[in-house]
Amino acid sequence: MAYSAIVVEKRGPAGLVRLNRPEALNALNDTLVDELGHALAGFEADDAIVAIVLTGSEKAFAAGADIAAMATMSWMDAYRGDYITRNWERVKTCRKPVIAAVSGFALGGGCELAMMCDIIVAGESAKFGQPEVRLGIPPGAGGTQRLPRAAGKAKAMDLCLTARFMDAAEAERVGLVSRIVADERVVDEALAIVDTMAGYSLPVLMMIKESVNRAFETTLTEGLLFERRSFHAAFGLEDQKEGMNAFLEKRKADFRHR
Ligand code: HXC
Repeated sequence: MAYSAIVVEKRGPAGLVRLNRPEALNALNDTLVDELGHALAGFEADDAIVAIVLTGSEKAFAAGADIAAMATMSWMDAYRGDYITRNWERVKTCRKPVIAAVSGFALGGGCELAMMCDIIVAGESAKFGQPEVRLGIPPGAGGTQRLPRAAGKAKAMDLCLTARFMDAAEAERVGLVSRIVADERVVDEALAIVDTMAGYSLPVLMMIKESVNRAFETTLTEGLLFERRSFHAAFGLEDQKEGMNAFLEKRKADFRHR
């Protein structure tokens, strides 16, 4: 599949996806979201890829859904076409870790896309916001659901109800962002995280992702049970034997991802 709205490449163990609609600050449309879903599926099926890095440009990760495309849309267009969201959850359902490397604006659907990723690395210029209210719509792809889970109710209400932007420092303080680096380092930092992960067992990384995500879907008792089942299942992996033997033999583990 030839892509028009994203650029995809492999960087060692990382699959790198760059959103590429510079004329509209990477505004999201169905084509972009469909292409992103296709690229993620390819990386997920590729045994050489451990995790995916999703990024935009220095000015914008993504400035939201494409307002020009939405302006004349009817309810029927949006509802029957399942506007933007028909392939949206593909980022969430990707079983390998996905890291957002965010510089500049991550607004509306752009913020929601970043929040679907497992880790957000922010450049110093990053600005997060849910300014949909200014356009006469509420957030539609997770802003009112993932933002309170990530940053708490007060910040979510503040951002969604006022359209105020949150800078990188505030986003890190409230727990939306895990690391802040200089803008020009943001992709390298995300790729370095993938390099670190590549030294571990891929099935264990996948178990961890699945288990942490459970924390947002279920009760503590059920989540702990799910975690315990994953923990016990890991004793069926060759990588568990290798990891523990390597520790005891004072050498670096050589995980084979099985
Ligand atoms: C379409 C957009 C766009 C968008 C920017 N552009 N954001 N086009 N959809 N979401 C275009 C501008 O029209 C302009 O095109 C070019 O990108 C550069 O933008 P400027 O506004 O000139 O840049 P600047 O003054 O630096 O302001 C940056 C900005 C502003 C603060 C990010 O562009 C802005 O407020 N954008 C809209 C943000 C927003 O409301 N997002 C939520 C969308 S709704 P021209 O042709 O004039 O150069 C949403 C709902 C999601 O996301 C629902 C489910 C996914």
